[in-house]
Amino acid sequence: MLAAFVSVLFKPIRAGIAVFMALAAVFGGIFGFEKAEISHKNDGCLASFAVISDTHLTDANGRREVLEIGLEDMSKAKDRLNALVVCGDITDHGKITEWESFALAMSRYDTSENDIMVIGNHDTWGSDDLSVTKENFIEYNKLATGREINGVYYSTQINGCPAIVLGSEGDHTYATVSDAQIEWFAQQMQAASQTGKPIFVFFHQPINDTHGLPYTWEMNKEDEPGTGGIGDASDRILEIIKQYKNVFYISGHIHAGFSKGEGKTVYSSVEKYDGYTLVNTPSYMYSDFLRGGNFLNGTGYVVEVYENEVIFRARNFISGIWQPRYDETVELK
Ligand SMILES: [Fe+2]
Repeated sequence: MLAAFVSVLFKPIRAGIAVFMALAAVFGGIFGFEKAEISHKNDGCLASFAVISDTHLTDANGRREVLEIGLEDMSKAKDRLNALVVCGDITDHGKITEWESFALAMSRYDTSENDIMVIGNHDTWGSDDLSVTKENFIEYNKLATGREINGVYYSTQINGCPAIVLGSEGDHTYATVSDAQIEWFAQQMQAASQTGKPIFVFFHQPINDTHGLPYTWEMNKEDEPGTGGIGDASDRILEIIKQYKNVFYISGHIHAGFSKGEGKTVYSSVEKYDGYTLVNTPSYMYSDFLRGGNFLNGTGYVVEVYENEVIFRARNFISGIWQPRYDETVELK
């Protein structure tokens, strides 16, 4: 009975997506869409992964359904993804029921060989007791991805490329980063640089005053510098990143959509600097069109690593389309 009710309830969602996909197929050429399964853009791809952010799962099954449609797209990739990264704000308020919803969705699809969870500020709001929110993140990491960790920061690899996951140890909108985590990060970066591979760093909050911040956070010119970013630890993290080459710092948090805007107060998804690149992942569940960019739900990047370059390919995972106008290629040094 319940299953039948749920099925009826979500028919409109699937119908809406079907209509969108049909329209995308017809008008895709005009709007810059390309409907195609996930497969490598070029020969010689050394590693590939999907990154999405801000899935904000609630108790509502509809949000899980939207996530599952994207996971299904990834699971059907012609060239299997080496990893899936969910870059924070996985849940809307860190509630157990929301973590359960995420774990259920992840259990239904085999998207990659290495699913990577990053903690976001919303994920820390399930309890006033920080030790409880941390334990929830650890427990549901194991349940949803099989990974055993003992804190909110850890390292892994994506088909040989170092992947370093940072996380806030507090429960504020900005990030709280201990001296111990900073020291650990410096050591991890040193070790990662020895591989000669591009290094991927994931943290929910962006580096301060990048991607149009602070203006793009509240769209308020009165916002203090640093608003909407990591916070106090931002400069120290950036200084460590700057010591190495071919570093990709990937964040979420802003809730914008794909954009190639230019200017200090204008949102841009990808910012290239000498030796490092800052990438802000669009919000998967809902983007704020005021903050800039393409505001369709279900978006993220497929990242492809080649011998001499890394390509960020913009994709709408719930409609199975590429949005190549927002692609970015970074030459490796
Ligand atoms: Fe968010």
